[in-house]
Amino acid sequence: MIERLARDIVASRQAIALTGAGVSVESGIPDFRSAGGLWSRYDPTEYAHIDGFRRDPIKIWDMLREIIAVIGAATPNPGHRALAELEAMGRLSCVITQNVDGLHQEAGSKNVIEFHGSNRFLVCPQCGFREKTDHFDASRLVPRCPVCDAVLKPDVVFFGEAIPADAMARAFDEADRADLVLVIGTSAVVYPAYGIPAAARRHGARVVEINLEETELTRYTADYFIKGAFGETLPRIVTAVRQLLGGKLE
Ligand code: APR
Repeated sequence: MIERLARDIVASRQAIALTGAGVSVESGIPDFRSAGGLWSRYDPTEYAHIDGFRRDPIKIWDMLREIIAVIGAATPNPGHRALAELEAMGRLSCVITQNVDGLHQEAGSKNVIEFHGSNRFLVCPQCGFREKTDHFDASRLVPRCPVCDAVLKPDVVFFGEAIPADAMARAFDEADRADLVLVIGTSAVVYPAYGIPAAARRHGARVVEINLEETELTRYTADYFIKGAFGETLPRIVTAVRQLLGGKLE
């Protein structure tokens, strides 16, 4: 299947990737819905919904502080670097990520659409003030806005909030133009992100899923499924692409 995907990548006119939390697990950031994932310890209806943040921001910061510390300690894994290499080879036009950890950009990917925002900034829900997260001292209880004293939140999309309009427009424009979509490390249960591969498929794109286990997407949207860990599988795919381009793969 690795060789099959390498051939599809080489033959594609416009390949894009949609990634989820699974691509950062090998960087030390737990995903949400696998066993032991974040939602097995924090109820997302309480901790990841904007109404919960508005009701009790100090409680939500108990979880946010943990996430900021884990993301701060994480570095890109070989899978992130393989996607960046594919882009540098002109074989991947864009990464649309649901992740807020910035690891794709840190690995060298240039065209990254952060569909659920970014943990790199804190924003004030009241007055719009923004500051870089790394200015925040994680030991402080909660960061407050220096302008209006409201509790700041990470610039990420909570349930009940809209996807940033620019990210939404760019992502579905990429989906409309893609003829190959790699869907990697996502359980594909959160809308509208999971609609991106289906939108591309409606325009005739081939959808290939790479995951440790099958998902809803496998059955209804993916043309084929490659079972494997991101950090180990993507480098193998890039090696196979390089061999094909060098004319060596028999
Ligand atoms: N390699 C490949 N896939 C992996 C790996 C790995 N090393 N580790 C885990 N996975 C897969 C899991 O099998 C699962 O299908 O990654 C997927 C992670 O799914 P989720 O934890 O649901 O994460 P994600 O799909 O990104 O969640 C989407 O939900 O809670 C919201 O906003 C949050 O962006 C997030 C969204």
